[in-house]
Amino acid sequence: MIDFSLTESQLAVRDMARGVASKIIIPKITEYDRKQEMNPELLPAMKAANLLGFCIPEQYGGLGMDYISLGLACEELEYGDTSARVILSVHIGLFSLPVLTWANEAQKKKYLIPAAKGEKLTTFGLTEPAAGSDAVGIQTTAVKQGDHYIMNGEKMWISLAAVADYFLVFAWTDLEKKKKRDHSGLSAFIVESKWPGVSTGTLHGKLGVRAGNTGYIAFSDVKVPAENLVFKEGAGFKIAMFCLDQGRYTVAAGSCGLIRACRDACVTYSHQRKTFEREIGEHQLVKQMIANMEAAYEYSTPLWMKAGWLKNQGKRSTKETSMAKWIACREAEASAANAVQVFGAYGFSDEYPVERFYRNSKGASIYEGTREIHTLMQADYVLGYRKDRPIEHDLPVVEQG
Ligand code: CAA
Repeated sequence: MIDFSLTESQLAVRDMARGVASKIIIPKITEYDRKQEMNPELLPAMKAANLLGFCIPEQYGGLGMDYISLGLACEELEYGDTSARVILSVHIGLFSLPVLTWANEAQKKKYLIPAAKGEKLTTFGLTEPAAGSDAVGIQTTAVKQGDHYIMNGEKMWISLAAVADYFLVFAWTDLEKKKKRDHSGLSAFIVESKWPGVSTGTLHGKLGVRAGNTGYIAFSDVKVPAENLVFKEGAGFKIAMFCLDQGRYTVAAGSCGLIRACRDACVTYSHQRKTFEREIGEHQLVKQMIANMEAAYEYSTPLWMKAGWLKNQGKRSTKETSMAKWIACREAEASAANAVQVFGAYGFSDEYPVERFYRNSKGASIYEGTREIHTLMQADYVLGYRKDRPIEHDLPVVEQG
């Protein structure tokens, strides 16, 4: 039976993340969003609060917390700003949990332990300039030569590209299968940012998530040791989809934080602002927008918690995670658009946070599976075109809390 009551340790993680949001993120977010830079205090604060590896087992440098805790931390961080939640999405969701699940012991010792301790920052490289939703359309190659692979290609729209130390990179190792778009020719590798031939850069002028680092990673004849191949040749597509099951989960939970931030900002403003000699909260159409935000939060939250509950049991949650991500992002976008409306002209200015919520909300309907990809996936599940089978590896079972 699903039990959504929170344990003491889950509440402690939530409070820790809430503290980082209120003390470190919120006071300076307008400044860093305007500057389009990461707040330099954020990563040290997340590391000090053990937020960079808390749901990795203790033997690999983490705290052994469960996946509901991960969702709670994401919600609290995104309440502060989407850019902070994105750090957990890539560092834990798209790198650490997949490495925990698919990598060998030597790889876990070398790469997962420093990541979980927050000594190294990590990210994920699937998307390319000409391939986003069409994951099999990527062009990066890794050709085997003796005891290493030679990697060439470019990854684009990568969160933390210019600040991460390690990347989980997807590339074709079978060039014949690449021509046929046969996903069993794709493989996954752990690549270090300091290796010769690896270069990175930051993108500016983004619509949202401006206080976060987003960029490209280019590989020019990079010599990747064969020991950095994750699991086995040909498993890359499945590992990438597994990564997205965890990353999308963090986006879903984070989006609930954004909905809550919209609601709270609107409630405060609705009591302060008067029109027609009344608080605007007394006007029925404003009430309707705020009620919709409340409803959105209430029905989006159990969706990610259900996915987290399945993950805690080591059960595949591709469908549930996709549903949670699709609905929470859709509702965050609608809530943020209405929040700007509630604030009227002031919502059009960065004097108030809702314009940032609006800009940030748009990204989540694009990254980690567009709204269209999730719509198609859900239709395919009910039509019987898509069926999930047990996979070779899934998340380790953890005790709730
Ligand atoms: N876990 C494990 N294995 C999985 C899986 C999962 N979640 N999903 C699929 N697989 C396996 C299947 O079992 C199947 O295996 P077999 O061939 O042995 O049967 C294989 O993978 C192929 O699966 P599908 O047939 O389901 O694959 P598909 O071609 O239908 O997938 C798609 C199509 C759903 C559109 C998929 O390509 C997709 O999700 N695309 C979106 C990619 C995406 O979200 N990109 C955003 C990246 S975010 C980013 O890069 C930003 C950043 O900041 C890092």
